[in-house]
Amino acid sequence: MRRTPIYGKGLEMTAEQRFSLEGKKAIITGGARGIGNGAARGLYDCGAEVVLIDKLEKVKEAAAAIDPVRAHAIVADLHGKDAVHAACREAVEILGGVDILVNCAGVQFRTVAKDFPVEQWEDVLSVNLSTTFYMCQEAGAYMLEQGSGSIINIASMLAYFGGHWIPAYAASKGGVAQVTKSLSNEWAGQGVRVNAIAPGYIATDLNTSQRENKEEERWILNRVPLGRWGTPEDLQGLIIFLASQASAFITGAVIPIDGGYLAR
Ligand SMILES: NC(=O)c1ccc[n+]([C@@H]2O[C@H](COP(=O)([O-])OP(=O)(O)OC[C@H]3O[C@@H](n4cnc5c(N)ncnc54)[C@H](O)[C@@H]3O)[C@@H](O)[C@H]2O)c1
Repeated sequence: MRRTPIYGKGLEMTAEQRFSLEGKKAIITGGARGIGNGAARGLYDCGAEVVLIDKLEKVKEAAAAIDPVRAHAIVADLHGKDAVHAACREAVEILGGVDILVNCAGVQFRTVAKDFPVEQWEDVLSVNLSTTFYMCQEAGAYMLEQGSGSIINIASMLAYFGGHWIPAYAASKGGVAQVTKSLSNEWAGQGVRVNAIAPGYIATDLNTSQRENKEEERWILNRVPLGRWGTPEDLQGLIIFLASQASAFITGAVIPIDGGYLAR
């Protein structure tokens, strides 16, 4: 087989080896369902051992459905630094280290800005932005120690534009994109890459109400050049790529995966 040299760490790997996650250890927040669950399945399929963290009890079932041995579950409500610290430490103990972190846990609340409740503002900012940053800090500490790691934060199209009736979510996702770049600048020289994905409309439990509203559904599908909702599986390729050595020269990027929405 023809070998293509890569120069990152003086390693020589085949393209196939660069995509492999064999022996890698991954933590995925929000792994009970949706995009986080798709991420966990994708990373596992490429060889990683995975820990899924979620506030939903059904994360245990979700991990068992992937693999009773190489997939693990932690039930934790990721609010605040202490909860994040405890869950991350437990995950690292289970795995014996961490090479990959995917921050997927997220919530959304929609209502007119004038009446937006303080509790919802604080909840959305706490889970989507603060938890993402604390998870990066916690897992990042192990990665910096070992001199390697890949962090993938899930931002949103709402990192680029403001939407309607969704100010806290838009603020949190803009923040995720900026935190990603900030951490990338600090950690790139120490072997830890930090990137974000900005998904467009992906069919999950997060947007059931939008899909049930036929008028909104029609508007969305007309606006997406590929003419359909994305699926968690549509995100797996990019997540695997960013987690692997195949993306060794990519850091600080916020990559859209949106069926062409942003280009329109
Ligand atoms: N679905 C989309 O169209 C879309 C688009 C852009 C970005 N995103 C982002 O992708 C990520 C995943 O969303 P999804 O669509 O899969 O939604 P989802 O609701 O299906 O999954 C989110 C998961 O996060 C978990 N979670 C929420 N709060 C938590 C907390 N405090 N502690 C632990 N776990 C918690 C939920 O229990 C759930 O399992 C979110 O960050 C979301 O903002 C989704």
